[in-house]
Parts: sequence; C-alpha cells; structure tokens
Amino acid sequence: MCGIFGYCNYLVEKSRGEIMDTLVEGLERLEYRGYDSTGIAIDGDELDSTLIIKQIGKVSALKKEIAKVNPNRDVTFVSHCGIAHTRWATHGEPKQVNCHPQRSDPNNEFVIVHNGIITNFRELKTLLLNKGYKFESETDTECIAKLFKHLYDINYQNGHELDFHELTKLVLLEIEGSYGLLCRSSHYPNEVIATRKGSPLLIGVKSEKKLKVDFVDVEFPDESNLGRPETPLIAANGKAIHSDDNNITVTTNKKNPDAFLNGNGHSSGSHDDNLLPIAANEFNLRYSQSRAFLSEDGSPTPVEFFLSSDASSVIKHTKKVLFLEDDDIAHIYDGELHIHRSRREVGASMTRSIQTLEMELAQIMKGPYKHFMQKEIYEQPESTFNTMRGRIDFENNSINLGGLKAWLPAIRRARRIIMIACGTSYHSCLATRAIFEELSEIPVSVELASDFLDRKSPVFRDDICVFVSQSGETADTMLALNYTLERGALTVGIVNTVGSSISRATHCGVHINAGPEIGVASTKAYTSQYIALVMFALSLSDDRVSKLERREAIIQGLKLIPSQVKQVLKLEPKIKELCATKLADQKSLLILGRGYQFASALEGALKIKEISYMHSEGVLAGELKHGVLALVDENLPLIAFGTRDSLFPKVLSSIEQVTARKGHPIVICNENDEVWMEKAVNSNLETLEVPQTVDCLQGLLNIVPLQLMSYWLAVNKGIDVDFPRNLAKSVTVE
Ligand code: UD1
Ligand code: M6R
Repeated sequence: MCGIFGYCNYLVEKSRGEIMDTLVEGLERLEYRGYDSTGIAIDGDELDSTLIIKQIGKVSALKKEIAKVNPNRDVTFVSHCGIAHTRWATHGEPKQVNCHPQRSDPNNEFVIVHNGIITNFRELKTLLLNKGYKFESETDTECIAKLFKHLYDINYQNGHELDFHELTKLVLLEIEGSYGLLCRSSHYPNEVIATRKGSPLLIGVKSEKKLKVDFVDVEFPDESNLGRPETPLIAANGKAIHSDDNNITVTTNKKNPDAFLNGNGHSSGSHDDNLLPIAANEFNLRYSQSRAFLSEDGSPTPVEFFLSSDASSVIKHTKKVLFLEDDDIAHIYDGELHIHRSRREVGASMTRSIQTLEMELAQIMKGPYKHFMQKEIYEQPESTFNTMRGRIDFENNSINLGGLKAWLPAIRRARRIIMIACGTSYHSCLATRAIFEELSEIPVSVELASDFLDRKSPVFRDDICVFVSQSGETADTMLALNYTLERGALTVGIVNTVGSSISRATHCGVHINAGPEIGVASTKAYTSQYIALVMFALSLSDDRVSKLERREAIIQGLKLIPSQVKQVLKLEPKIKELCATKLADQKSLLILGRGYQFASALEGALKIKEISYMHSEGVLAGELKHGVLALVDENLPLIAFGTRDSLFPKVLSSIEQVTARKGHPIVICNENDEVWMEKAVNSNLETLEVPQTVDCLQGLLNIVPLQLMSYWLAVNKGIDVDFPRNLAKSVTVE
C-alpha cells in the first residue's frame, strides 16, 4: 500500500541535505508495506518554488535520482515543509509521471501526495479538462492537485484569498473515495495540509520545550458572522457557496455526477439531522492559537512535525503522536498545528490528544501482528471492502466494473469462458465457477496454467480467457496469456498489481484492490479475487430478469462479508488451541468439502502444506468412498466443511462415514446449527462456527479458519511464516 511521509521544521535550522535525508529515511521506514515508486517535494532555489524529485523502483533508485538532480544540499531553512511518498500503483502503471508527488501545473503551485482511491476522479478530470487543465499522469491524485489550483484561482479572482485549510474544505467537498493526503503550495510557503478519510494519517511532534497541554483543540467553522466575506466562496463548477443564517448551502456534485458534469448541479445542501448548521467560512480562525504550542512568554517555540501514514517512520524522531480522524484537516504553519473540521457533529470529540507511543519500531512495522501473513489475514475485512468499493451500489443492487463495462456485450456473446491461473488464484476460479455458470449461462472451464500450456489446449477467437493472478507476473499464467492472445481470444485479467505484466497485456479486467500482499502465502488476495470474480459474474447477468432475485441476494450477501469476516477472525483463540493440542505433531490432515466448499478444501490444504510443511489434502467429499476413506481411523485428523447449502444432506452423510470409522472431524459449520450442536455432544467432533451467507459466498468465510490454522501450525513449529522454504512470492520462472 502507498505510504506518506512529511517533515516540517520551524525555527529549527536544517540544511536542504538534512531535510532530504529525513524524507528519504522516512520513506525507507515505509518500504516494508510494498511499493513500486517514490518521490519527494521540497523548497526549490527560487523564492516559494517547489522542487519535485521522483522515480520508479525502490527508495535506492530515488536516492540515485536525487544525486542526479543534485540540488544544493547546503542551503539552510529555518522553516520548511517537505512531503514524500511511496506509491503502490492503483491508477496508472508504475512510471515516473505517475509517481507522487503529483502537481497542479508545471509551476508546481499545488503539490500532493495521496494514499487511497478517488472514486469520482473521472468526473473531476472531465470537469478540469473542460476548464483547460492538461493532465500529465494517469493518476487519480493529479485531479486533487488541479482541483486545489482551480478552486484557489477562481476564489482569488472573486476576491477571496482563502486560508489553506479553507481552500482544502472546498476541495474535499468535491472529492469522493478514500484518502490520506498531504498538500504543500507555493501560495502558502512553509505550510502543509494533512487530511484523511478512510486512510491512516498521524502527526509526530518534537519540541525541546514541553508542550503546554497534551492535546490539540478541534476548530470548527465560526458560528457567528464574524469574518465572513461579503461575497460567497466559489465551488469547483464555478457556482457560489451561499451562506444563509449560518446554514451552508453547498453546490455539490456528490449525488449526481451528471449534473456536476453539466455544470448545473446546484443543490440545496440539506444536512444530516445530527449535524449542527455551519457557517460558510472562518476567516477569524487564522488568528486563534493552538494551546499546545503556546510558549510561556508568548514567543515562538522551535518545533518539528513528522507526518506519516504509519507510526513506523515517525518513532525514530518522536514518540509524541496525534492520530487524525476521518475528515480532520490538519494545518501546520508558524510552528503550530491546527485541526479543523467542516462541521460540528453532536457528541464528537472537541480535541485530539497527543499520545505517547510505547511501542518500538520493529513492533509497529507489522502493527500488533507477528508476521505479514497474520496481518494480511486480519486485513480481510478491509481488503474485501476495498475490492467492492465504488463498484457495488447496494441500494440499487447494481454492479459497475469500470474495467469491464465496455467489454460485457462481447463477453456475453462467448460460447465458453476459460479461467486460467496457478495455486491460490486457481482455487479462486474453482470457488466461483459454479456461480459464474449459473449467472452467465456460459460454460466455464478452469485450468491450471502450466497444464493448459502442456496440453496445447485449443483456443478459438470467440473464447473468453480470464487470467487470475495476485502478482500479475506469474510466468506460467503469463505464458498462457500470450498463448491465448496469439490465437485471438479476448483476454480478461483479475489482478492485484496495477501495472503488472498480466494487467497490461490483457484486453480488459478488474484490479482487485486488495493492497500489497507480502507474505508468501496468499490470503487476502484469495478473498478479493473471489469477490472480483463474483462481481464479474453478476455484471454478466445484469440484463437477465430471471436472475434478478438471485443477483439481489448475492449483492446483499456481499455487503455483509467484511463484517462477517471480522466475526470469523474471533475464532483465532480456539484455532490456536486446536493447533497446539489436537493438531500438534500430526503428519497429515485431510480436508473434506463438496460443491462450493471443494475449492475451500483445496485452498485450505495448500495453505497448510506451504506454510506448516504438514501434508494436507483437499478431498471432494463425494469421492471419499472411492478410496480416501481407507485412510480414516481414530488417529487421522480431518476437517470437514459442514456449512448449510443445498448439498448439506450429502455432506452430512460423508461426515457420518468418517465418524462411523471412529474419525474425530473438526467441522466448520454455521453458527448455532442444531444438527452440529447435537453431534458435538453425542459424537466426538469439534466445531468451528462461522456466520451464514449466500451459498456461493460461504467460501469467503469458510477459508478464514483454515488460513489461521495454517498460520498457527507453522508458528508452533517455529517456521518463518512469511518466507517458507523453497517458495517465492512471485513465481516468475516456468
Ligand atoms: C478505475 C481506477 C480506480 C478508480 C475508478 C474510478 C485504475 C487502475 N483504476 O477503477 O482506481 O477508483 O476507475 O472510476 O485506474 N485492466 C486490465 N487488466 C487487468 C486489470 C485491469 O486490462 O488485469 C484494465 C481495465 O479494463 C481498466 C483499467 O485496467 O481499463 C483499470 O481497471 P480497474 O482498476 O479494475 O478499473 P476501475 O474499477 O474502473
Ligand atoms: O501471483 P499469482 O496469484 O499468479 O501466484 C500464483 C501462485 O504462485 C500463488 O497463488 C501461490 O500458490 C501462493 N503462494 C499460495 O499461497
């Protein structure tokens, strides 16, 4: 995931060399998160100018680029604000123009680093293009920088010299999606804005003198009429923001992008009932002071601020940090930190405390987690949500996959769909094949890439070949992709890594937006691939009335998945105990599933093999009696998926075949399922209870206990979970 770092010094003299070193080192501390390019923005040699240096690749490549640009390291700054970024591409492949900082114009008037995704960037880009702005990157971030300039310029032309945080409020009115961002500007020298929504951001404070208080007051808009300008502020589409008896009437594009694009989106801004009215601006606040930064005698205090998306890059400098909340606008200038909000919410906190971090650096890198794999398992409530973000309208039960929309008519005409992948990605195809066939009514075959190539399988021009890959670089999958391209098939990618070979080479596709996966064992990519494939199947059937009810049930089921995954994660203590007792020192583990859960069984067994080095086999429950049953006795550990769907009676009968042979299965079942509750009492079986969802989504929840199980089996054996022997994260050889 992207990383943000910023450094502001006030009355603490620093050379440009020292400032650049601090920024670069801050980025190095963020490297563990995974990224593909980096950049910094600092003061240039001309008065109030900004120098941007950026490069694709690692921080070491940025260092080389800085050496090449060779800015004078000896110039000193008594006050300065620099910003920096590590980028994990989501909009546009990793190349220099797409690196952050992004800028508003060739003079670098507004310069931004941004984590997150702006979901309405296409609409904003169209608006700004119509206003004559020229875009140089494919990023969504560039539209934020240009929006800053646009709003600054039009308000300036109307006689408003807006404060930096006021300008930011106008910008935030226009953008949708998630963001953690820093902005610096030649119009506001030595000032920086930090704001967030759904993306973490914190500010470290370092000062020689003790802070007067350990909190910062939250500043709300002036509710009196003091300081209000006589003419209204101007929004992005050129319309006025009117103030009327302290109620703000905002020109907004939020609900109606079309109206926004046509420039007639002026709507009367009604507010949520629990929000108090706000005034249109707050000119007098510039002169208020933040109590924490007041010195005894009122003289300015030397201070340094470290802004970051991650405490790991701040802790070396200071342990005093303030965590921003969603919609906070932090404004740093003249050695003070101010927190502004656009509206006063009933019951919301009026202060942000400056906390002392007790953690050490190594702990923070992985947060509270011991390994990346564990962290990534725990990220699934968020990563599954991010896969759906901006793509599913849960109110209208509709799906909008921007990368596939134009291709859907062609795909619907296909005679068959071939899904091609390796390892875990292959399992996500198996897991969704049935729902794909049910919704699209097109036959789907699922292929292991290497076998597909070995067989030189026939491919036709009217075939649709879907390539699923976390890394987007797996050699077998890439070779299979080239093979199908040569034969004229239409190719679709389901890929996590934007700018990867498979993402670029396919005709179209879906980025799963799970964020970088660092642990070799694929976990959050699996659940996000699964969801992306289900959304693909839903999109293919959105013209079929006969599927309406089924589609609605699935979409409403998807809505609950992130919170249900969170629920499943609570099983960890029980799973940990099973791994330390019943499953400890076992040589082999069978995993039984059928229907939708066959893929869960295969994926669970792969996780256990690759991380814990224990033999494990996913078995189709219907095949048990055809051979595997011979292995079953009172000693063989066995896990069975017994969640409810139309195949439940058959699964039940398979598990009874096991218990009849004195087997003691661990059954993954739905919460409070009476059948299993009773069996747990009468037969010797354990249960792991997961919430119930729609049949075709149940695998998203059922896989989580097995991810945790493989993790704890490996940890108990002292295995380096993130780097299991003989395996690589990205398999770029055949
Ligand atoms: C795009 C943006 C997203 C933004 C949204 C707003 C990118 C990368 N994504 O998302 O950040 O929030 O618009 O409207 O800019 N593609 C392939 N092969 C693949 C994967 C994708 O060719 O394996 C293509 C798609 O067809 C599409 C482009 O890459 O042309 C971006 O795909 P995706 O990120 O999935 O598109 P959106 O969800 O629309
Ligand atoms: O990057 P890809 O999804 O193409 O990788 C495919 C497999 O190499 C990968 O899923 C592998 O099986 C994982 N290590 C399993 O956890």
